Amino acid sequence: MSRLGLHRTLEDMRAQVAAWKADGLRVGLVPTMGALHAGHLSLVDAIAKNADKIIVSIFVNPTQFAAHEDLSTYPRQEATDLAALETTPADAVFAPTVQEMYPQGFTTGISMAGPALGLESETRPHFFGGVALIVLKLLTQTQTDVAIFGEKDYQQLMVIRRMVADLNLPVEIMAGAIQREADGLAMSSRNVYLDAEQRKIAAQLNVILHQLGNHRASAEVAEAEAKRALLEAGFTEVEYACIRDAETLGVPDANTRARRALIVARLGETRLLDNSPAV
Ligand code: PAF
Repeated sequence: MSRLGLHRTLEDMRAQVAAWKADGLRVGLVPTMGALHAGHLSLVDAIAKNADKIIVSIFVNPTQFAAHEDLSTYPRQEATDLAALETTPADAVFAPTVQEMYPQGFTTGISMAGPALGLESETRPHFFGGVALIVLKLLTQTQTDVAIFGEKDYQQLMVIRRMVADLNLPVEIMAGAIQREADGLAMSSRNVYLDAEQRKIAAQLNVILHQLGNHRASAEVAEAEAKRALLEAGFTEVEYACIRDAETLGVPDANTRARRALIVARLGETRLLDNSPAV
């Protein structure tokens, strides 16, 4: 019999959280869209040090996909995900339906500036509105004390930190380190889209990112060099390869305390993201 509680309705999830809170337990949340890989499981392990009870949410959120994106084909494999979570310290899974999360007549949206501007928003203007909305819903629904997000989606992490600060949400946001395949490719649910040839090229992304992050030339020259190297390696398109302020994600200026190198490059239809600290 499964150790994990599986909650499909908000009412059911809330009852479980209320029982834990009545016992004075600290609750942690790992939001996911399923198709779990070792990167997600590492988030469960990381939050375990900081929470008594752990919820993993599995919800492919329609509002963060544009009409032309992969919502209908996004990998869904709930049974496999539940089996993988049995081996982790997770206590419960919250897997609501779209109807449960976006009831008939739903109309509320979130609009953000700051770290939500540029980079991902250049090609996916709908994205952070959808992410901020679903994360805000999940955080308030589960009344979680702590939540964790992977650094792989670095801009997403910064957007969520900004939203939590702006709205004074009483939740701690943890960052989980990027998990990589043996050849350095950052783990992602979308890596399954890559064929064997693309998978070889994909491994170069991390190598080029490393060079960008450790550049000796000016940032401008290093960014141009990274774009050239990505195209030469076989990537079909480079959306961005840049060095940004690690907190605001603006162009670094005199107030910048830390920098981040960020790359998004395409192999055919597949977008690959990676990032690392930069000099
Ligand atoms: O990073 C993700 O998987 C999603 O954007 C998130 C945070 C679960 C919101 O749907």
